[in-house]
Amino acid sequence: MKFTSAVVAGAAVGLTYANPVAKRAAINDADILQYALTLEHLEATFYAEGLKNYTRQDFANAGLNAAAYSNLQMIAGDEMSHVQFLTKALTAAGAKPVEQCTYAFPSTDVASFLALGNVLEGVGVSAYLGAAASIMDKTYLTAAASILTVEARHSAYLRAALGEAASPQPFDDPLDFNEVYTVASPFIVSCPSSNQMLPVKAFPSLTMSSMAAAMTGSKVQLTAGTGFDMSMDTSDLYAAFITVTGPVWAPLTSSGSGKFTVTIPSGVAGQSYVVLTKGNSQATDDNIVAGPAIIEVGPMVGSMNDCGSKSMSMSSMSWAMPTATPTKGMGSGSMPSGSMPSSTSSASSMPSYNAASGMGAGSITGVLGAVMAAVGLLL
Ligand SMILES: *[C@@H]1O[C@H](CO)[C@@H](O)[C@H](O)[C@H]1NC(C)=O
Repeated sequence: MKFTSAVVAGAAVGLTYANPVAKRAAINDADILQYALTLEHLEATFYAEGLKNYTRQDFANAGLNAAAYSNLQMIAGDEMSHVQFLTKALTAAGAKPVEQCTYAFPSTDVASFLALGNVLEGVGVSAYLGAAASIMDKTYLTAAASILTVEARHSAYLRAALGEAASPQPFDDPLDFNEVYTVASPFIVSCPSSNQMLPVKAFPSLTMSSMAAAMTGSKVQLTAGTGFDMSMDTSDLYAAFITVTGPVWAPLTSSGSGKFTVTIPSGVAGQSYVVLTKGNSQATDDNIVAGPAIIEVGPMVGSMNDCGSKSMSMSSMSWAMPTATPTKGMGSGSMPSGSMPSSTSSASSMPSYNAASGMGAGSITGVLGAVMAAVGLLL
């Protein structure tokens, strides 16, 4: 499907006036490129700020050698190139590319910067993967895939640098547009009003509130925050981990006031995403009530020497990690065969994306929980 600015404008208008029970119009390629550009702006700014905030010496003090530092510079350059590429593609297609927003990143030192970068790369991979099925034009699909593979390499590099398994499971988890926006929006303070409003919304936040290591079978505390209906009957709420074969359901108990305990199920590993759903027949835009929260599942595998002669000191520090067997993504090792999440086509009409409207504003959600946990573990 080719798109034009008229199509883009039409989509935006349709969303603005959609009635609350109408289904959302299918997201088009222009929307997807704008959405990708929104994420790339965020990533590019994150690295540019980080490399400005922390000196080469700060990184060295944290245990990164010159090669690791230049790898970070290269990653920053990649994100900048992605911004330029998507900007050009949108311009060529007659759309007005979204511009950089104002962001707030909760990174205060090299450790928290790298931990957040690691989480953002994982989200980027899941975002491109989740969007792939919605891209109509094969040229864009290939272009998006060529970005996805690079983001996956960034993710693997940072994961390994931080002592996590580089590829903790055989299949990555695809995230839906709204799921991605839910975890990205807390970092977006405001955007230029001239930016196209995207047909995405943030679900109520879900934060991991303990720093307990998340191993299969362990219990993790989650707190639903901004936007969550505290008076909601929680008796039919379920916890779903998002995987490419569909949700992996996990035991959930509610202790009131938006506080929940979820037991990490087998079948998820690495950077994992859990949502709370009403009922357990699906986990889609139609029944997600909070999340995703981001949870790193699995043991640390230790430091990797290519990150520094003494490796990253953070990751080489002793780990009081349980020695449970790593979980492998698909359990049986079979190919994905379950029902694919179909959320992108069944979303209820939603408020349009407008970071300035305050959706999720001021609340740092699942991402921060994951970063806090990662930094807590690293230090
Ligand atoms: C860089 O520092 C500024 C000013 O302290 C801060 O607002 C911003 O979040 C920091 N960004 C990163 C990525 O560390």
